[in-house]
Amino acid sequence: MIDKLLGLFSHDIGIDLGTANTLVYVKGRGILIREPSVVTIHKKTKEVLAVGSEAKRMLGKTPSTIEAIRPLRDGVISDFYVAQKMIEYFIKMVHELPSRFPKIPRPRVVLGVPSGITSVERKAVIDATRNAGARLAYLIEEPMAAAIGAGLSVQEPRGTMIVDMGGGTSEIAVISLGGMVISKSLRIAGDELDVAIVNYAKNKHNLLLGERTAEEVKFAIGSAMPFDGEDQLEVYMRGRDLRSGLPKSIRVTAGDIREALEASISLIIDAVKDAIEETPPELVPDILRTGITLAGGTSQLRNFDKLLQKETQVPVQVAKEPMTCVVRGCGMVLDDLDLLQRVKIA
Ligand SMILES: Nc1ncnc2c1ncn2[C@@H]1O[C@H](COP(=O)(O)OP(=O)(O)OP(=O)(O)O)[C@@H](O)[C@H]1O
Ligand SMILES: [Mg+2]
Repeated sequence: MIDKLLGLFSHDIGIDLGTANTLVYVKGRGILIREPSVVTIHKKTKEVLAVGSEAKRMLGKTPSTIEAIRPLRDGVISDFYVAQKMIEYFIKMVHELPSRFPKIPRPRVVLGVPSGITSVERKAVIDATRNAGARLAYLIEEPMAAAIGAGLSVQEPRGTMIVDMGGGTSEIAVISLGGMVISKSLRIAGDELDVAIVNYAKNKHNLLLGERTAEEVKFAIGSAMPFDGEDQLEVYMRGRDLRSGLPKSIRVTAGDIREALEASISLIIDAVKDAIEETPPELVPDILRTGITLAGGTSQLRNFDKLLQKETQVPVQVAKEPMTCVVRGCGMVLDDLDLLQRVKIA
């Protein structure tokens, strides 16, 4: 009864609490928040100064009194206090939007979490969400949410394969009858690719790069296989010379960056191959027929889909709007209580 009443006065929301980006879906309204998972706080007072893109702009550029923090690492909460502050900020923001009824921030929340998450980590996410004002918090595994959000039929007696590659984790799953038959969570994804570029610059050119700069290089020229027009692209890595300490910029080609990314990409591809190998034989023909669906920001790396298809001999397609699949899946689950009961993990 109280729950129903509170429901009238608060928005039910789905949250994709990602390592790189947090997205919030509000029931009946769609995706209203899409911000980097970054918070800046005052070191001494712990006061939150900025959240989201404003905070991201400060990463690596803060004076000693201010700290820009990414509260999630490798897909899980590494800084509990800051994560809670961030969730609180987003829940509050949603409830301050103009609406027909006054809203109080006591929502039901469905959160997507990595499938490899331990029970301690699970509890940390639920506690952070409840402390942030949620009256009920449900967790669903990200690959399940991504598959639902990508429009795949997860409840049929049919194998469906999804690979969600974000910032901190790559999640690989085979789903059938509303459950995950195979699931693998790999702590190698977009962040790791950035680190690979930082290491390449250091080892090959004695150049110290920031991770944000590395990410920009990845956007500009990163790829998994050669792509059309790559020779025309002119990209410079700008950083500091490790020997002289002075600014330096080095021109790089798409081939250089491919070389830098190759080892990490292979690890993801090998994990997908392992998952296919472990898939029960009855489900393999389904996967051959429907293919592998890719979601998450890193699925947009140029020609990753082509390389995966070549290596696995299974058709691969990138989902529509790959970066919003998880949050859309959380939203769809909010609207379908039967489905929620089936797929929630806590
Ligand atoms: N066009 C692109 N090419 C390559 N990488 C990209 C592109 N667009 C985004 N990315 C990468 O995708 C990652 C962010 O993706 P996403 O928002 O799906 O991650 P997340 O959900 O926050 O992380 P996780 O699911 O691991 O917790 C970043 O590492 C970003 O650099
Ligand atoms: Mg994600």
